[in-house]
Amino acid sequence: MSSFTKIKFNVNGQEKHLRIKSSLLLIDLIRDVLKLKGTKPGCLEGECGACTVLVNGAAVNSCLYLAVNIHGKELVTIEGLSTVEHPLHPIQQKMLEHGAVQCGFCSCGIVLETKAFSDECRKEGKIPTRREVKKSLEGHLCRCTGYIKIIDAAEDYLTHPSV
Ligand code: FES
Ligand code: FES
Repeated sequence: MSSFTKIKFNVNGQEKHLRIKSSLLLIDLIRDVLKLKGTKPGCLEGECGACTVLVNGAAVNSCLYLAVNIHGKELVTIEGLSTVEHPLHPIQQKMLEHGAVQCGFCSCGIVLETKAFSDECRKEGKIPTRREVKKSLEGHLCRCTGYIKIIDAAEDYLTHPSV
């Protein structure tokens, strides 16, 4: 018999009150309940990073995160980075400029991971090295691009903090 839990959280700036199955995974809450399809189901085992979202500003694999644990927290999905005035976040813009997107399956996770890393660096007032940029994206697999262009795009964004 499945049990249900009431949760309250903020997603992309909007408060939500929901009653969900206690066993529901965050990725299924995002895609199936909230209908936000930018978060991609890849390996579903914490290996590929395609399902990455931000929880209280930190990048997490939503395929390994129980949805009940989002209670009281702030969730940001790729949709939350767009505004009417700026449909593309500057990180997405850099990905386009560097030709770092092919099929796009890995891209949303990479953009959100870069956002989390960028916020961390800015808080510490540091500009990361290329090695650190590479390390920050270690948990992300891309079947198409060969990674160089992705790292170039992330580095370009992360080393130009005023963007
Ligand atoms: S789908 Fe979550 S890490 Fe691959
Ligand atoms: S662009 Fe296709 S998986 Fe990365």
